[in-house]
Amino acid sequence: MSGKMGKSLPCAAVSLLVLLATSQPAVVSASGSGRRPRYHSIFSFGDSFSDTGNKPVAFGWYSLPSNVMRPPYGSTFFGHPTGRSSDGRLVLDLVADCLGLPFVPPFLAHNGSLDFAGGANFAVAGATALDAGFFHGRDIPSAASKFPLNTSLNVQLQWFESLLPSLCGTAQECKEFLGGSLFFVGEFGVNDYNLLMKKMSLQQVRSFAPVVVTTITMAIERMIKLGAKSIVVPGVVPSGCSPPVLTFFADGRAGEADYDAVTGCLRDVNELGVHHNSLLRLALRELRCRHPDSTIVYADFFRPVMDMVESPREFGERFGRCQDDDD
Ligand SMILES: *[C@@H]1O[C@H](CO)[C@@H](O)[C@H](O)[C@H]1NC(C)=O
Ligand SMILES: *[C@@H]1O[C@H](CO)[C@@H](O)[C@H](O)[C@H]1NC(C)=O
Repeated sequence: MSGKMGKSLPCAAVSLLVLLATSQPAVVSASGSGRRPRYHSIFSFGDSFSDTGNKPVAFGWYSLPSNVMRPPYGSTFFGHPTGRSSDGRLVLDLVADCLGLPFVPPFLAHNGSLDFAGGANFAVAGATALDAGFFHGRDIPSAASKFPLNTSLNVQLQWFESLLPSLCGTAQECKEFLGGSLFFVGEFGVNDYNLLMKKMSLQQVRSFAPVVVTTITMAIERMIKLGAKSIVVPGVVPSGCSPPVLTFFADGRAGEADYDAVTGCLRDVNELGVHHNSLLRLALRELRCRHPDSTIVYADFFRPVMDMVESPREFGERFGRCQDDDD
C-alpha cells in the first residue's frame, strides 16, 4: 500500500513518519545536503511491509508460487516486479533514499553474491514474530498448511548473525560497525494475529500479545548486545481495515455491529492492534531505560493508515477509489 504514495511522498514526510513518535528527533537526518551520511548501512527485519525481495526465494524453498513476481507489482516505480509486496516503493525504500543509502538489498535473494557492508534486509512477506513451530504445533492454520514458513524474527536474526563474520571480525569491531547502522525491527505481529484468528476468538488472540511483544523486545536486546545503537520499531497497522481480514470475517464470522459505521473496519481487530502497540511502546520504554546508550524509536504505522481510511480524498482521488490491492 505504501507504493500508492510512492512518487509523491517527499523526504520530509518520511522523516516525519519515523520521527513523529520519538522524543529523540536526532536519529534520522536527511543527507540530501551532501553532508556525510549519518548511517553507513541499514539492517531490516520484518514482513511484507519491508520485504524488498526475499519472498520469492523463501516461497521457492517450499515450492510455493509467489504472486509478487507478476504485474502490477513494481509497476509504478521500478517498472518490473522486484519481490516487494507493492506496486512501488516501501517506507523502507523511501527512508533509505532520504538517508542517501541504496535500497536495502534482500539477503536471501543475494546470499553469497553480494557484499552486505551497505546493509541487508532479512524481512520476508508473511513472516511472524513467533517461530513457525509455535503455530504448527497448534495446527494453525491447519495441519496441511506450509504457513507460516520458517522465516520468523528469530530465524531472521540467525541469518543476520550468520552474516556478521563477513562484515566485522572481533566483537569490538562488530560493535563499532553496527553502531553506525540503522536498524528496523518490524512491523511484526500482524501475521501472528491473523494466523491465530483462524483458530481462536479475538479474546484468545489478545492473550498472545504479550508473548509477541516480548519476542520483539528480546530480539532487540540481542541486536543491542551485538552493537546496534539506532533502532526503529514500527507498531502494527489497523488490520481490521485490511482486505484479507475483512474477507476472512465476511463469511458470517462478523455481524453488522462488529464494523465501524463510518470506516467499515472491524472494531475489535483494530482494538487488538491498539493493544499490541501500547504493550510495545511500554516495552520499548523499559528497553530505553536498560540501554540509555541506544536510541530506540517507536514508529506509528497505525495512525497514518487510519488517516488514509478515514479521509481517502486527502490522499488523492486515486487512493480513495476501490482497487484490487494487496498488503
Ligand atoms: C547462504 O549461503 C550459504 C553458502 O552457500 C549457505 O550455507 C546458507 O545456508 C545460505 N543461507 C540461507 C539463509 O539461505
Ligand atoms: C529454520 O531456519 C533456521 C535458520 O536458517 C534453521 O536453523 C532451522 O533449522 C530451520 N528450522 C526448520 C524447522 O526448518
